[in-house]
Amino acid sequence: MDLYPLIRPLLFRLDPETAHRLTLSALDAAAKFIPRPRRLSCPTEVLGLRFPNPVGLAAGLDKNGDHILGLARLGFGFIEVGTVTPRPQPGNPRPRLFRLPQAQALINRMGFNNLGLSHLVENLKRLRARDFILGVNLGKNRDTPNTKAVNDYLLGLESVYELADYVAINLSSPNTPGLRELQHGKLLEELLTELLEARERLAVKTGKSLPLAVKIAPDLSLEQLAAQAEILLRYRVDAVIATNTTLDHSRIAHLPYGQEEGGVSGGPLKAQSTAMVRQLAERFAGRIPIIACGGILCAEDALAKFAAGASLIQLYTGLIYRGPKLIEEILTRLEERSYPSRSRISR
Ligand code: FNR
Repeated sequence: MDLYPLIRPLLFRLDPETAHRLTLSALDAAAKFIPRPRRLSCPTEVLGLRFPNPVGLAAGLDKNGDHILGLARLGFGFIEVGTVTPRPQPGNPRPRLFRLPQAQALINRMGFNNLGLSHLVENLKRLRARDFILGVNLGKNRDTPNTKAVNDYLLGLESVYELADYVAINLSSPNTPGLRELQHGKLLEELLTELLEARERLAVKTGKSLPLAVKIAPDLSLEQLAAQAEILLRYRVDAVIATNTTLDHSRIAHLPYGQEEGGVSGGPLKAQSTAMVRQLAERFAGRIPIIACGGILCAEDALAKFAAGASLIQLYTGLIYRGPKLIEEILTRLEERSYPSRSRISR
């Protein structure tokens, strides 16, 4: 039974961060009693990995990897934890998360609040055999200058190398000043050079080649996107996650909280993010898989992402507004309809 429509009005009376904390604690307590998700037959092979299904949890909801098993019980095929930074940091002062229900949107300026790499690593070490794919989203500390940012990402890569199934290099959160500059030109090339070299060294040492995804912002001009896509192709990154939140507040500026500073997710991001997936898919022509993220609020939205060229999708804001039922709704539609056969395993 879907209890979320009953619980949601109560949760929405609370401050969003408190509601978030309570929900995740309740999920942990209930995890053992949640029936294992019905096995849906839409496994997907991407990144050299077999995803039990192509619907994932986007980064930011479980920054410290404290709730992985409970979240997996909701039926996700993959969970991306983080963003984690090398050292713990408190993030921005509260309030820093706002609901805009009229637009099914959120604005956040969390600022990578997290308990640091060692806490996350301890949590990952405790996980036993998993039946879902686990990604770790890596960031840099706020006080690490961009000239030294690569060291933070390298430390992240090394620390989780043997524990994760893929890493996502987050160059696109709008709430760490200067972070998005790393998405462009020389800075991006230098970063990728060092990370891919480190990956090669670690692959020799461990016998495992960890896929490396890059998470990008939706606020790029066509020229910027073309230049970025060319670099991502040249360096042959394993996947691109499109997209993070947007700085474009134009669709929500008239709503309560619409002027709050931060990244916008959910409804107002949907079209912009899907357009980005379409443009990237044209440029990549199947050479780099795309993980689509941004404004998926119903099964139709998910299908639109696959139609635009995505191989996998991720949710965050949709989960807050629709609850876990959204995952099943999407998976049921995917079972009914075929989605891109190149990413589907024939049985
Ligand atoms: C995020 N997002 C995010 N992304 C990321 O790479 N690292 C992070 O730490 C966070 N943190 C975060 C916190 C909150 C409160 C929100 C709402 C979002 C962005 C998220 O992963 C996703 O890219 C966007 O929210 C767009 O997807 P949805 O929410 O429209 O499905």
